[in-house]
Amino acid sequence: MLIPGPLKKPPKPGDGDGAGPAERLKETPADLVGWIDERTGGASFLTGMLYRKVPKGTTWFYTLGSATLFAFVVQAVTGVFLAMYYTPSATQAYGSITHLTNDVFLGEFVRGMHVWGASLMIILIWLHMARTFVFGAYKYPRELNWVIGVVLLILTMTMAFTGYLLPFDQRSFWASVVGININGTGPVLGPYLSDFLRAGPDFGATTLSRFYAIHMMLIPGAIAALIGAHLYLVAKLGTTAPPWLKVESEPELREQEV
Ligand code: HEM
Repeated sequence: MLIPGPLKKPPKPGDGDGAGPAERLKETPADLVGWIDERTGGASFLTGMLYRKVPKGTTWFYTLGSATLFAFVVQAVTGVFLAMYYTPSATQAYGSITHLTNDVFLGEFVRGMHVWGASLMIILIWLHMARTFVFGAYKYPRELNWVIGVVLLILTMTMAFTGYLLPFDQRSFWASVVGININGTGPVLGPYLSDFLRAGPDFGATTLSRFYAIHMMLIPGAIAALIGAHLYLVAKLGTTAPPWLKVESEPELREQEV
């Protein structure tokens, strides 16, 4: 298999590098990776990530985080295509969405992927959180990753909330009015939050621009950065073993346990 040198599994001590001359020749085209690695040192992080040890007994439940990541990437890609046709103006937003849906090649399909993908991402993120909770993966030393996860959850739900207004039809308009009013009932910060979301005391054209900016730039950027931190910690701290896995400690160690 053609694996660029810098990304190969590190050899065990005394094993050599495991590659004969013919093997090395096959890998010459992949030297580009070596060129980049010499200048960035990124391969050691990637090697650590790709060859990290995972505990015995990991199941499909452990794929929910990656599934959430995939849903986020789908949302980002389809969102870019939607943005090519969408006009964030109170008078033109609805028309631009109708045009995208009815006239643009594959427009309805891409819009459908984005709308259904949003619900899917919400379902997946909750399931992923439930998995980490039930498996006790939030405990020491992964508390910080749990906290980052909670922020990711809030940001993902805010994405759904701000995206809902963008078609600017009757349903999305009134649903957002209700949503903002609910935010306004929160203690202390509630009224400030709803003023911020409305972009003033009244719901109108500036609200749409604000939601669009939050939905398009602020939150996706923050989510991407936090996913980076989240995955760094996953690679650094390793994966939590399933709770039903028996602890295989030495008898003499067990005696030391209090
Ligand atoms: C955009 C949202 C998120 C993405 C893309 C994401 C991605 C991932 C991935 C790929 C993993 C490693 C594989 C796995 O265990 O499933 C992981 C692990 C983890 N995630 Fe998330 N996650 C997200 C949100 C959350 C949320 C909402 C929480 C909890 C509040 C959370 C808490 C954790 C914890 C504690 C781990 C470590 C699991 C372990 O050690 O077994 N994540 N995440």
